[in-house]
Amino acid sequence: MTTNALATIAVGKKNKVADIPPRIFGSFVEHLGRCVYGGIYEPSHPLATDDGFRQDVIDLAKELGVTCIRYPGGNFVSTYNWEDGTGPRDKRPVRRDLAWHCTETNEVGIDDFYRWSKKTGTEIMLAVNLGTRGLKAALEELEYVNGAAGTELADRRISNGIPEPMDIKMWCIGNEMDGPWQVGHMTPDEYASAVERVAHAMKLAESGLELVACGSSSAHMPTFGSWERTVLTKAYDNIDFVSCHAYYYERGAKTLQDYLASSHDMQLFIDTVAQSADEAKAANGGDHDIALSFDEWGVWYSDVWNKQEAQWKAQFGKGLHHDAWPKAPHLLEDIYNVTDAVVEGSLMITLLKNCNRVRSASRAQLVNAIAPIMTQDNGPAWRQTVFYPFSEAANHARGDAFCPDVDSPKVNTKTFGEVNAVDAVITWDEKTRNGLLLMVNIDSNEEHDISISFDGLPHFNPSAFAVDKSMVLHEDDPRLCNTLEQPMAVRPKNLAATVVDGRICCALPPISWSAVEFHS
Ligand code: AHR
Repeated sequence: MTTNALATIAVGKKNKVADIPPRIFGSFVEHLGRCVYGGIYEPSHPLATDDGFRQDVIDLAKELGVTCIRYPGGNFVSTYNWEDGTGPRDKRPVRRDLAWHCTETNEVGIDDFYRWSKKTGTEIMLAVNLGTRGLKAALEELEYVNGAAGTELADRRISNGIPEPMDIKMWCIGNEMDGPWQVGHMTPDEYASAVERVAHAMKLAESGLELVACGSSSAHMPTFGSWERTVLTKAYDNIDFVSCHAYYYERGAKTLQDYLASSHDMQLFIDTVAQSADEAKAANGGDHDIALSFDEWGVWYSDVWNKQEAQWKAQFGKGLHHDAWPKAPHLLEDIYNVTDAVVEGSLMITLLKNCNRVRSASRAQLVNAIAPIMTQDNGPAWRQTVFYPFSEAANHARGDAFCPDVDSPKVNTKTFGEVNAVDAVITWDEKTRNGLLLMVNIDSNEEHDISISFDGLPHFNPSAFAVDKSMVLHEDDPRLCNTLEQPMAVRPKNLAATVVDGRICCALPPISWSAVEFHS
């Protein structure tokens, strides 16, 4: 490891992006593998609550600081009957889930998830099925979930033990309807008409809803950009958010350095979708901005799932389909290393730097399936490496986000050309005078010295400036992971930071994520 040129980070009033929306620290719980069954819900577990939820997972979800959780899918939602997960458990139907080729027992449904959300203090963002269903089912679900007593479906919820309306505000109208893998996938025109009708009717049924139209499943979809323009222009009046989904993994990138620079792909995604949203507003002579809901993001080793799916399909071909509908199998249980955590840390920085447009985001997913929290059936739960950058931001980024001026040494990538080795965001709560600096050094080889000045933050008082906590996530072996056997192998350590004349100086090792909590 060598040290090279100094990077500087400076912030002023002009660098203010926007207030930080709490929903930017959202997550995602899909009926997928062991996310729900064996993840949040395991009634036979020694730490299960009276209603069957794992208390250790509840505790870790709270520690992670997640605010808003997208539910119940994902691809799963596109064949889902929401009614199946309501009423007495022993009467709920068992069904096949076409998205993940699993058996869905329906032991957990919206009523149960609502109870879980109360225990974790999280908001629910609910997705409706636009694959096999549509307008009627969406309206009925809305009545069941949010209706006041006195109509059939609201009364059914009450007789199922939830007297109060759940007051779920944010609804996703379908999931990834641009994806050929999606049950009931649509062309841009088909989806534009469908979402326009559903959103219009849902807003007639209830004011105050915030509705999310499906955007592109990735920036690499053939209809990326044109999909957003078509959908948002047609459905503009009743749409508040457009979704963005992006996953990254090392084998999916040209080089390790390209993988470490994945946030540049996310930035391109945000810029393109924000522009489409503005065009839709202009085309409609509109009065509201359509915000971005980055409601699936993170690291996913998707090639592993692709191989598994291909294998299952080959078995179908041999007539072995009876074997291919397991209950809560180990699916998408990616074990994350230090590099993955640094990439997720840089993605979080990008989301915060764009929080004037990205007003909601869900790191996918929460437990076991591509998740920061892992569990063993009947055993312990632990934190993956990616837990730490998320929890630090979710628990300490408050007030306004600032996109500082960063003067950084460069690294070369094949995909994005020459990019900064160091990236950072600063958050500052003027009322409490607490701030947070989040940084990454994505250089795969070199350490970089950094000097950071905070003078330009509004009402910053250099003489009262002090560092409360500073940490770095880095290991000499960037592929080190946390496992059942070694759950604490990777965790943030103290970052040596010196305060000189109201500035902070520190050294960021290669492939590292760091955070500095400060006050002034
Ligand atoms: O999060 C896993 C899957 O990724 C979701 O079900 C789907 O929406 C996306 O393709």
